[in-house]
Amino acid sequence: VRIYVPCDAAAMALGAEHVAKAISEQIVARGLDAKIVRNGSRGMHWLEPLVEVEVSGKRIGYGPVKTKDVVSLFDAGLIAGADHPLCLGEVEELPFLKRQTRLTFARCGITDPLSLDDYEAHGGLAGLRRAVSMSPADVVKEVTDSGLRGRGGAGFPTGIKWKTVLDAPGDRKYIVCNADEGDSGTFADRMIMEGDPFVLIEGMAIAGLATGATKGFIYTRSEYPHAIAAMSRAIDIARSAGILGTSVLGSGKAFDMEVRTGAGAYVCGEETALLNSLEGKRGIVRAKPPLPAHKGLFDCPTVINNVISLASVPVIMDKGAAYYRDFGLGRSRGTIPIQIAGNVKHGGLFETAFGISLGDLVDDIAGGTASGRPVKAVQVGGPLGAYFPRSLFDTPFDYEAFAAKDGLIGHAGIVVFDESADMLKQARFAMEFCAVESCGKCTPCRIGSTRGVETTDKIARGIEPEKNRELLADLCNTMKFGSLCALGGFTPYPVMSAMTHFPEDFVPTPLIEA
Ligand code: NAI
Ligand code: SF4
Repeated sequence: VRIYVPCDAAAMALGAEHVAKAISEQIVARGLDAKIVRNGSRGMHWLEPLVEVEVSGKRIGYGPVKTKDVVSLFDAGLIAGADHPLCLGEVEELPFLKRQTRLTFARCGITDPLSLDDYEAHGGLAGLRRAVSMSPADVVKEVTDSGLRGRGGAGFPTGIKWKTVLDAPGDRKYIVCNADEGDSGTFADRMIMEGDPFVLIEGMAIAGLATGATKGFIYTRSEYPHAIAAMSRAIDIARSAGILGTSVLGSGKAFDMEVRTGAGAYVCGEETALLNSLEGKRGIVRAKPPLPAHKGLFDCPTVINNVISLASVPVIMDKGAAYYRDFGLGRSRGTIPIQIAGNVKHGGLFETAFGISLGDLVDDIAGGTASGRPVKAVQVGGPLGAYFPRSLFDTPFDYEAFAAKDGLIGHAGIVVFDESADMLKQARFAMEFCAVESCGKCTPCRIGSTRGVETTDKIARGIEPEKNRELLADLCNTMKFGSLCALGGFTPYPVMSAMTHFPEDFVPTPLIEA
């Protein structure tokens, strides 16, 4: 019997490690023929630690399990999938999972993340096997035809980026995976690195074959120690199995990779600051052009893609561009792993075809607020994303639809706030965040963010509120159009959306400390 206990960081933060130890002790004490598998997370955070038992090919779930529940679970007959107050029934049948379309996260939470056999048994490596038999241009065409766009936030077509690198002259080219997942409320990159690391390795190897790059780097955050450990171990396993190295799957083409860790600057998620950091320099933004695709890491042509963009490539190469493109709407094709966080009943990862409305996500999938109070606002796209009021809940998840409402999907994280949120305070937070994280290269961001904090404070204190609201809007305009990168350029989104949709909060308030 296989008993699954997640090794995902979110599950471990909720006690999974202790639960696994307690289960192991019960197996020994009762002399049972059972094995613990440390899987990734299914992405249903309110049920973590979610313990699963495989019975007659089905996975029966129990959760959230605490150490003190373990003895009673065994007494009730856990290894036979027996009933218990924590029993959730068949995991695949839980509505939160059943309503998803899991393409990128197909294996996450199901397999042993570090078992290559498990990976292959669940469809792994089929995409890479197909890619090694194709010409680089054909692989690029397949990715272009799939309609895949950058999942880091900007939504630039992945195939076009790859073609730029393929066509760029140069003996040395690189694949850089941006795993510096800094947005508040986002965790998709971490979840896949911990729960299915081989899919990222496979995606990066395909990118290497497609563009002529022979070396890859995963740049991730020091705050992700479990992801770093899982990825590093998986890379070693893949290298020993001939998936990485001088001859990828015996193709005669070389590709290898390694993990590099950042030092905690949000701006190092910006691609050019990331490149500087990777080169051992200070993480400061470079002016574009030149684009990294032309002159990137060590001045060589470089593909920089987000974790989810690269991890979506294997399924595209396996099932074909048309299969992937069939999901979604408009110019947003395929699926998007939406990360639901904040004040919600059901937080977690929900992978679905583009097109689901924000309201369906918040009211239905997330089950409304955990506090039970009405939803006031939803911030979509991280700390630089706009706040959406209920009147915009019909907006479908689609890059263009969000842009049309002065918002952005970003890395697809949503953070829900109930009616107790003070939007002036949130606007101040956005400016403060920008001031703390600014790399300092350009004036609108470096100076503007500090002036922004001061101006919101003046509004809060009732100092010439009308004039200062106008000043704040003017400042946002300067930052939006005058900043060198998205940090300064997008900070106006949360500020302006808060001021536009919640003007009643932009009045003197006792909630802001002097
Ligand atoms: P961008 O629009 O400047 O570029 C997007 C990507 O396309 C870049 O990789 C760029 O090099 C590439 N590109 C543009 N034109 C190209 C061409 N002609 N040929 C080849 N490649 C080309 O956007 P940027 O500044 O890279 O990203 C901004 C986004 O980052 C925002 O939408 C924001 O949502 C997101 N973001 C994500 C965070 C996260 O934690 N994932 C954190 C903060 C922001
Ligand atoms: Fe640096 Fe801010 Fe300018 Fe970006 S906008 S280059 S983070 S100062």
